[in-house]
Amino acid sequence: MPPENDGTNGNIPVHVGIIMDGNGRWAKQRGLPRTAGHLEGLKTAKRMVKEASDRGIKYLSLYVFSTENWKRAAGEVSFILGLVKQYLLKEMDFSRENRIRVRHAGNMAGLPEDIAGEIRKACEETRDFTGMQVILALNYGGRDEIVRSVNRAINEVNKNAEGSARVQGLTEEAVRNFLDNPDIPDPDLVIRTAGEFRISNFLLWEGAYAEYYISPKFWPDWTGNDLEEAIGSYGKRDRRFGGVTEGKT
Ligand code: FPP
Repeated sequence: MPPENDGTNGNIPVHVGIIMDGNGRWAKQRGLPRTAGHLEGLKTAKRMVKEASDRGIKYLSLYVFSTENWKRAAGEVSFILGLVKQYLLKEMDFSRENRIRVRHAGNMAGLPEDIAGEIRKACEETRDFTGMQVILALNYGGRDEIVRSVNRAINEVNKNAEGSARVQGLTEEAVRNFLDNPDIPDPDLVIRTAGEFRISNFLLWEGAYAEYYISPKFWPDWTGNDLEEAIGSYGKRDRRFGGVTEGKT
């Protein structure tokens, strides 16, 4: 079972997810190629890891590359994957200094071997770090994650079962336990930049009861103050998880 998110972090969300959108528009506005927007987006991501860690956030999930992003031009795809590699290679000192644990969510099998290798290495090297956990959602799609989880659960149950004992149906708990990172609590707050009111296949299962915050700013323009505002907005929300708050009708 994942640890219950019991609100012991006060009004600070324990787990924040970010859909980092608007890199292309940021670049276009400046007459620059889309890749320049991604480069700036990487700088913002690095800044935001520090800002989130300084604010006591325990888990930060970053939507880096979706299962649908392969539809983009080959040059843009390889540029983004190159930035990921650069991040994994260059940020290890920062991770060590700040005890930041790197994790991955998504379909590892579909990633180029060099990137998959660097992710595995970073996850392995930081696995005992007790600071903030940064989850890189890479070749990630919420639907894909749920399907992979269901398949893993079925395989596991059927491994030791014969005939009629084979699985007939799965529970929510079984599906939950086979997601990519079942030990990580569900996100409390999911932020999307660049003004779009869409979830775009991000943390579909995990975000069932997340609070959503849409910022009009493009991702490269995001600062610590924007994160502060998002956390402030989260702090004022009345989270009911489908129940009723006492004193309210
Ligand atoms: C969305 O903007 C952004 C992406 C698909 C790529 C995100 C990647 C990074 C920020 C760099 C890598 C980061 C890490 C942490 C390794 P968009 O291109 O969809 O923008 P648009 O909607 O304005 O076109």
